[in-house]
Amino acid sequence: MATTAKAAIVPDLAVDLAPSHPSGLRLKTPVLTASGTFGFGDEYRDVVELNRIGAIVTKTVTPEPREGNPTPRTVETPAGMLNSIGLPNPGAEDAVREKAPIWKDLPCPVVVSISAHDESTWTELAAQFEGLTNVVGIEANLSCPNVAGGLDFSTDPDRTAVTVEAVNKGTTLPVIAKLSPNVTDIRTIAQAAEDAGAHALSLINTVLGMVIDPDAGRPFLGAGVGGLSGPAIRPIALRCVFQVAEVVSIPIIGIGGIVTGSDALQFFLAGASSVQVGTATFREPRAAERLVSCLHEYLEKRSQASINDIVGGARY
Ligand SMILES: Cc1cc2nc3c(=O)[nH]c(=O)nc-3n(C[C@H](O)[C@H](O)[C@H](O)COP(=O)(O)O)c2cc1C
Repeated sequence: MATTAKAAIVPDLAVDLAPSHPSGLRLKTPVLTASGTFGFGDEYRDVVELNRIGAIVTKTVTPEPREGNPTPRTVETPAGMLNSIGLPNPGAEDAVREKAPIWKDLPCPVVVSISAHDESTWTELAAQFEGLTNVVGIEANLSCPNVAGGLDFSTDPDRTAVTVEAVNKGTTLPVIAKLSPNVTDIRTIAQAAEDAGAHALSLINTVLGMVIDPDAGRPFLGAGVGGLSGPAIRPIALRCVFQVAEVVSIPIIGIGGIVTGSDALQFFLAGASSVQVGTATFREPRAAERLVSCLHEYLEKRSQASINDIVGGARY
């Protein structure tokens, strides 16, 4: 009897990170670069095939220029690193003037990360990135541990809600709320962000940590405390994604210690619709690009048609 060969499936890696937004946030692939670990995109354009990654998330931009925290600002830790960079950036006006002409020509879309101080400055800041070619979303960094008050926006549900509303007021783009793991129950904060109109959530920013130099008898980092990132925080990030996926219906972007294809897959199975790669990029600039190939191979091997089919697969 003649056998018919099974047609090979070409897996679809496309995702929409903002289905609740009128224009959506459709990306070709579900791997993005994490804020603060990929500059403004132009720094990597000769090294990475940017057209293969879903989007770049820029360094967080603040209303005014910032120099950042006193040095040293980074230190290696077991399976990770601690940073207290403190959001050095050129400020919104210069960022738009200098970077928007570059973003326009990048071969992948750009999500601009922003951080401000109070309701009105969040609104004004978001508005400064309106109408820029190839800028497809705003990630509100509600969770920077390295600036005064930076964590406050995502440690209290009411404050989170007010801030998300303020950002939405300033922009017509999809708004992604980036949350902190440094809270008692991240689910209440995530729900507040969703109820206030966030179109997606980024989970997680860094975990508060510290290193002490025993010879000097003082904290190693100039700022004393910093944010831990890298594989050391992956189980924490995964737990956050899993818990939040049970209580929200907007897409989740998983972030934290992702290095291998297997790491990324765990986030999808926990309920993330996409992932961001941060610290891994410092060791391997093309890490995000490599992960796209890993996801493609995984789906192909299992004859899965779409990455969306595996999201949230790891429930009890
Ligand atoms: C050196 C460094 C700078 C960072 N700067 C920012 C930033 O400006 N804005 C932000 O939202 N997150 C920032 N982050 C946090 C990352 O975007 C990411 O949430 C975190 O590092 C966890 O992911 P990872 O373990 O893959 O690095 C920074 C992280 C590092 C290591």
